[in-house]
Amino acid sequence: MKYSIKENGIPQGKTEFWGNKFCIGNGYFGYRGTMEEYGKEELVSCTLSEIYDDNGNGWREPVNMPNPLYTYVSYKGQKLSVLTSRVDSHIQELYLEAGIHRRKTAFIAEDGKRITVEAFRFASLDDIHLLAMRYIVTSDSETEVEVHTGIDDNIWNISGNHFRKKTVKQNEEITGIVCETIQEKVKTAVGQMIRVSAGAAQYTEDQTINAYSVHLKAGEPFVMEKYVSICKETDCTDVWESAVKCCRSAEESGFERLAERQRTCWKERYENLGIKIKGDTEAEKAIYYSCYLLYSSAPFYTDRVAIPARGLSGQVYKGGMFWDTEIYMLPMFAFCEPSAARKLVMYRIRNLAGAREKAAEYGYEGAFYPWESQENGKDGCTHYNLTDIFTGRKMRTYFRDKQIHISADVVYGIWKYISITKDYGILPDGGAETILECARFFYSCAYYKKDKNRYEFLDVTGADEYHERVNNDAYTNYMIHLTMKIALETLDYMETHYHAQFIRLMDALNYWGECENIRDLYEKIYLPAPDSQCLIEQYDGYFKEEDVSLEELYSRIIKPNEYLGSPCGLAVNTQIIKQADVILLLSLLSGQFTDEIKEKNWSYYEPRTEHGSSLSTCIYALLAAKNGKTDWAYKYLMKAARIDLLGEYKLYLGDLYIGGTHPAANGGTWMVTVQGFGGLDMDEDGISINPHLPKQWDSLEYCFRYAGSAYKVVIEQAYIEISQLEGNDELKVRTGDQVHFCRSGNTTKIVYKQQTAPGTGGQ
Ligand code: BGC
Repeated sequence: MKYSIKENGIPQGKTEFWGNKFCIGNGYFGYRGTMEEYGKEELVSCTLSEIYDDNGNGWREPVNMPNPLYTYVSYKGQKLSVLTSRVDSHIQELYLEAGIHRRKTAFIAEDGKRITVEAFRFASLDDIHLLAMRYIVTSDSETEVEVHTGIDDNIWNISGNHFRKKTVKQNEEITGIVCETIQEKVKTAVGQMIRVSAGAAQYTEDQTINAYSVHLKAGEPFVMEKYVSICKETDCTDVWESAVKCCRSAEESGFERLAERQRTCWKERYENLGIKIKGDTEAEKAIYYSCYLLYSSAPFYTDRVAIPARGLSGQVYKGGMFWDTEIYMLPMFAFCEPSAARKLVMYRIRNLAGAREKAAEYGYEGAFYPWESQENGKDGCTHYNLTDIFTGRKMRTYFRDKQIHISADVVYGIWKYISITKDYGILPDGGAETILECARFFYSCAYYKKDKNRYEFLDVTGADEYHERVNNDAYTNYMIHLTMKIALETLDYMETHYHAQFIRLMDALNYWGECENIRDLYEKIYLPAPDSQCLIEQYDGYFKEEDVSLEELYSRIIKPNEYLGSPCGLAVNTQIIKQADVILLLSLLSGQFTDEIKEKNWSYYEPRTEHGSSLSTCIYALLAAKNGKTDWAYKYLMKAARIDLLGEYKLYLGDLYIGGTHPAANGGTWMVTVQGFGGLDMDEDGISINPHLPKQWDSLEYCFRYAGSAYKVVIEQAYIEISQLEGNDELKVRTGDQVHFCRSGNTTKIVYKQQTAPGTGGQ
């Protein structure tokens, strides 16, 4: 796989977008795709995972470190910047195969001299504390320039400064800053070690910025290498000592060797995905780019956090982790990187206390998981989360209060993880307790409707956030039903396999009397059934809302960026929805519904969906692919896969900036490719593979892991080949109504006929 993402031309007006697009990261920190000469106005950020701060003046958000890559050339006292200087050419590029960012800019000075800057950088996967850069300056004729480099302390923050104390440090040639957060006094450090070509005279501009006088000979490069280390108190006892150590060992290895190692690490990641598409390099590239972004934000190193909704591309959404992780991202990790998936699941389990606290706050029992969860498991979402752009007044929103489905999504995630990996050991590790407490929460907030002898869920918000505070949201009710089923199975499993722990848990949770409630809710929950047209109503009364087209709704907009959702947005009393809701339900629980139901609902909801969230198009693509609507699926896959490539996303919700990368869409892209087109599915009966290749693809290959073994699947238009790469278990695979067995060392070849949904092959 050798793809690079490239842009030519001046980034004027695009610094925000390209900053997201060319982001690098390793799960420990992210660094935006900004230029070395940029400052906080261009939204430079080195965003840390796991460290959040509330300075009392705004939101609690992740912390940005002082910018350690700050570097520029000055010529005759003038700073060269791609935004303000005369530029002959500018390229920005991301080598996906190695996670290396490159820029090359040819500046034309006032006297006509051509001075070129080329720089490479990467966030090391091998040593997650390391950010490395090589910076090369050349001139077309002999001249003097100055190169300034250091740690820029004047940094971008959405909610103001987050450090109460910053201490400049020096240890021989290593300089740096140790910072301490305001709220929790957590220490972090950034250190730098610089190596330059011989002959450059150095002087110090201020404590953390060096300058070099460089005599450039025509065509002869000046090379600077910078080894930057980033350390946090959460995993380093002495952050400065660790930073110094990291810089030293990186410098000893040298840029070339580090870059080589970086290539190898990324190669391993991509090999675990094993995606190959014959006949469509554009799609293959977009899919790899999506996976690259998702990997860059994934905290392989810890289970103290999951993946924030905007990855590590900044502080948007308060660095919060949402149901996006369980529903959109976890499938790729569970099937391809099980140990990372376990950490994502453990993050929720570790934060059961926060979910319990939230349930109690609302007067419920059990665990109500946050909508916007931070490292401490508390809900980062405020009651007044948006501002009305007409009046400037804060609006009461109910994202935090009413999206009870999050607890069901968490349970779904744990169960999915277990079903794919067979790691039942996570149940006694807190998984069972989490599941049972979520089930208890639902029982405590269910409304028993006596005359109908059924349980309903009133005053909730489903996946579609434009319609808040509705009754019996279909997605929510079905997911609660599933939660109850999983809770009952968990009770059984624990009782049989972990008997002693089971007894202790039941006693500790005082759960003996709860089992009946769980069963009762499971049996009597109201599940909105398909009507005579096969349609599932999104919530009670949805079909009675005004049925307008999207065009009509848009024509009513008065101000750009006005918020369309609750409490008083344009979509509220209409059938226009923000994102996949019933379609999400049909995709996740696809085995429970007929193809006809899926098809009819897809066709009904598709024109009524605004895709106002990046979580939407991939789900429409997924269901379309599963149902054989391959043209539609392809169109929506490409939208999801290229969201961060083309910048096709909303930058504002009202006046709230929400730009950044989109890990949920990235994970969704993998789901469409492998589970939609590739047909990989898993249920109580094990693995099934029912592919639906789009006409653009001659073949598709992918790898997955199941129950500890690794497999490779090759799908051509008429047959499927499955080979076992690792492990000795015999794999039972269903394709249509046939059952096959894939044995270690053998390749199983299955002939299949692609199904197309009746009358729906095309758009
Ligand atoms: C979506 C939510 C999502 C959140 C974070 C919102 O716009 O509607 O479903 O969890 O963004 O990605």
